[in-house]
Amino acid sequence: MRQVTVNLGLRSYPIWIGAGLMARTGAYLDNLAVGRKVLLVTSHTVQKLYGAMAEDSLRRHGYRVTLAVMPDGEEYKTLATAEQLYDLAFAAELDRRCPVIALGGGVVGDVAGFVAATYLRGVPLVQVPTTLLAQVDSSVGGKVAVNHPKGKNIIGAFYQPRLVLADLDVLGSLPPRELRGGLAEIIKYGVIWSRDFFSWLEINLGRLLQLDQESLAAAIEESCRIKAQVVEQDETEQGLRAILNYGHTVGHAIEALTGYRRFIHGEAVAVGMVAAARLAQKKGLLAADDCSRIKALVARAGLPVELPSDITADDLKEFFYRDKKVVEGRLTFVLPAAIGQVDVFRDLPEEELNFIE
Ligand SMILES: NC(=O)c1ccc[n+]([C@@H]2O[C@H](COP(=O)([O-])OP(=O)(O)OC[C@H]3O[C@@H](n4cnc5c(N)ncnc54)[C@H](O)[C@@H]3O)[C@@H](O)[C@H]2O)c1
Ligand SMILES: [Zn+2]
Repeated sequence: MRQVTVNLGLRSYPIWIGAGLMARTGAYLDNLAVGRKVLLVTSHTVQKLYGAMAEDSLRRHGYRVTLAVMPDGEEYKTLATAEQLYDLAFAAELDRRCPVIALGGGVVGDVAGFVAATYLRGVPLVQVPTTLLAQVDSSVGGKVAVNHPKGKNIIGAFYQPRLVLADLDVLGSLPPRELRGGLAEIIKYGVIWSRDFFSWLEINLGRLLQLDQESLAAAIEESCRIKAQVVEQDETEQGLRAILNYGHTVGHAIEALTGYRRFIHGEAVAVGMVAAARLAQKKGLLAADDCSRIKALVARAGLPVELPSDITADDLKEFFYRDKKVVEGRLTFVLPAAIGQVDVFRDLPEEELNFIE
C-alpha cells in the first residue's frame, strides 16, 4: 500500500493507492469518524462493475447507504444532476456530519464533490476514483464543479476531500482509450515538474500499458505527489497551480471545436502538450531534443500528437482571440523550458501563436 498526503493544515488528507482498497471502503470511513448515513454517488457503468463491492463494505461497517446512480457522460455534469443528488440527500435526512462518497471517474467526482461542497454548506467528501485520470488528477486537489452552457467547470468550488482511495484493481475494466487518456495527464506531470519521472516513464511505459500493478502504483503515487506539492503551494490557483494546465489551452479548444464528442479529454490534452512543446521550441525556449522526447512519449502511449486535419490554426486563433471563449481568467499558455520545467505565459499576442504552420 502506498500513501501520499496532501498537506493543507487542518484540511490535510491521505491518498491511498493499492489493490483491494474499495472492498475496505467502510473500514477507511471508520477512521474519519463521520455520520452513519452516506450518499454513495456513482454512474450506471461503475455501479454495475463495483457498486456492490463498495456498498457491501459500507453496510458491513454499519453505514446506511443511499445509492445515487447518475447516467454516464460529461453532458450530465450539470446543476440538474446536482439537484437530484440534493433531493436524495434530503430524503435520506443526511446531516452535516454525513459523507458524500464519489465512486467513479472524474465526472462523478466533480458533481458529487460539488454537492458535498454545497449541501448544507459542506459535508465530508470521500473520493473513490475509478479511472486512471481520476486517480492521478480529478480526485486530488479539491476542484469540484459542474458545467454551464457558458463553459465547462465554471460553476464550482475549491473543496478538498477527507480521503482518496485509488484502487488499482478497478483499472483492469477500463476501456484502453480511457487508460491512455489517464497516461496523458501522467506524462504531463513529468514535463511540468520532474525530468526523472519523465525518464522513468520512458522506460516503464510498456509496463503501464500492460497494467502492471507495481508500475501503475508507482506512476499514480508520483503523479499524486507532484499534484499535491503544487496544490499545497497554491490551493486556489493564484499562480503556480496554473502549470497543471500544460497542454490544456489547446486541448480545451480542440474538445470544444469538436463538440466534446470526437476526443476524450486526455487525447485532446495530448495534442495540446505537443503543440505547446512545439511552440516553446519555436520561441527558443525548449531544446529540439526535449521537444522530440515529449512528442515520442505521447505517441508511444497511443495518444494523438497532431491537430485534427479539419482544425486549422485560424480556427484556434478565432477560438482564443475573437470568440472570447476563455470565460475564466485570461488566455494562458504553459510552455516547457525543458522537460521537468515550465513557464506560464499570459496573454500571448496572436502573432506569437505560430505553433501549427
Ligand atoms: N476536478 C479536477 O481537478 C479535474 C481534473 C481533471 C479532469 N476533471 C474532470 O474529469 C472528467 C473526466 O474524467 P474521466 O476521464 O474519469 O471520465 P469519466 O468520468 O467520464 O469516465 C470515463 C468513462 O469510464 C467509465 N468508467 C469509469 N471507471 C471505470 C472502470 N473502472 N471500468 C470501466 N469503465 C469505467 C465511466 O463510466 C465513463 O463512461 C471531466 O469532466 C473533467 O472536467 C476534473
Ligand atoms: Zn486535464
